[in-house]
Amino acid sequence: MEDLMSKIISLAKRRGFVFPSSEIYGGFGSCYDYGPLGVEMKNNIKRSWWKEMTQLQENIVGLDAAILMNPKVWQASGHLTAGFADELVECKKCHHRFRKDFLEKDKCPDCGGQLTESRKFNLMMKTFIGALEDEAAVTYLRAETCQGIYVNFLNVLNSSRSKIPFGIAQVGKAFRNEITPGNFIYRTREFEQMEMQWFCHPKEADKFFEYWKETRMKWYLNLGIKKENLRFREVAKEELAHYAKRAVDIEYKFPFGWKEIEGIHNRGDWDLSNHSKNSGQKLEYLDEETKEKYYPYIIETSAGADRSFLTFLINAYQEVKGGRTKTTKAVKESEILLEIHKDLAPVKAAVLPLVKNKPELVKRAKEVYELLKTNFVCQYDEVDSIGRRYRRQDEIGTLFAITIDFETLEKKDVTLRDRDTMKQERIKIDDLVGIINQKLNA
Ligand code: GAP
Repeated sequence: MEDLMSKIISLAKRRGFVFPSSEIYGGFGSCYDYGPLGVEMKNNIKRSWWKEMTQLQENIVGLDAAILMNPKVWQASGHLTAGFADELVECKKCHHRFRKDFLEKDKCPDCGGQLTESRKFNLMMKTFIGALEDEAAVTYLRAETCQGIYVNFLNVLNSSRSKIPFGIAQVGKAFRNEITPGNFIYRTREFEQMEMQWFCHPKEADKFFEYWKETRMKWYLNLGIKKENLRFREVAKEELAHYAKRAVDIEYKFPFGWKEIEGIHNRGDWDLSNHSKNSGQKLEYLDEETKEKYYPYIIETSAGADRSFLTFLINAYQEVKGGRTKTTKAVKESEILLEIHKDLAPVKAAVLPLVKNKPELVKRAKEVYELLKTNFVCQYDEVDSIGRRYRRQDEIGTLFAITIDFETLEKKDVTLRDRDTMKQERIKIDDLVGIINQKLNA
């Protein structure tokens, strides 16, 4: 199964999904860059989450808070104290450092050396703001996006006239000085979160916890993740984050084991009451009808855009033994097919002239490309045999391949090939945009 990860990493680099960061300088500590296809796919994931969590919900609004915040926020949230620290051990021989809870034995996994006693290691990323690098100017890169939501609770409440229960959603970067990053983009020090904070009456918190747990699971299932590779895991009391009363993880069966991709948390009134105490501003809610004043409880859904990306990529990856595009005589080994959900596929259609040495075909193909590109993310490709081009498009999950041939010149129609069924149909150029739209929205 480890082999599958190497194949995914290699495909990701070869086809421009994900590159190691600063690669020409030898890379940089588990940082990654999203390439031309990767950025399209990641944007599609975030767009799908945003639509599901704001547009389709009557009572969830969006926010985009700054990454840098007043350091008092992190004092109040508990992130600067022991709450947000992992147990770190160091090998006395090779000096490699590890997260204690990730170790299976009490010897160094790299050289077998003896390990030190564990000590708490805070994960906040420190930085300096302003021209002077003194303590007064210290701040932190946010470790979770939701703190920007809590400190804006009153602003959103007052400006959007929201009534409890309601939610605030946000997508953005977060940073943690992870001791043991790894497994490609699964655990990195810079990552993106897609978080929604649901403010409700304390008495309704359990009910909404169940609701959001199920709703979030459906999002992955509706986007094609195989049911047998998803599960819930109740987080044990002793494992709970410092802010959580209860937590359930959504886990995916990665080649390296069952691992968390999203957390559903009941944060109680931890955040709003602590920010109230520390800021002096009462982040309470007044129910106009009952006149009850209280700190709402928060049910949080916290997903990682990068972990989702990896999940969707692994879920989509297939090797078809013997090949599926039986258009060349050469003996096929196996072909890669990325069966990514239509909403997430980075390229929706590819326009392919049958041959490139017939100017009239190329001209017509370019016209079709111009027509389509204003509607969908498209590629134009005239290099190599048509079979090889289909194969290249299958490898990146392109939904439709449109071939311009000699009949096109006479009949003004094209061949539309479906990625999954490989069925080909003749479509009039004038109907192409409408038909692709229909298929994308089906
Ligand atoms: N606000 C709650 C919170 O941050 P978390 O369980 O620490 O909860 C939520 O993180 C999600 O953020 C995880 O399920 C994961 O998808 C993503 N995430 C957390 N740390 C990450 C890391 N080091 N690399 C990539 N994604 C990470």
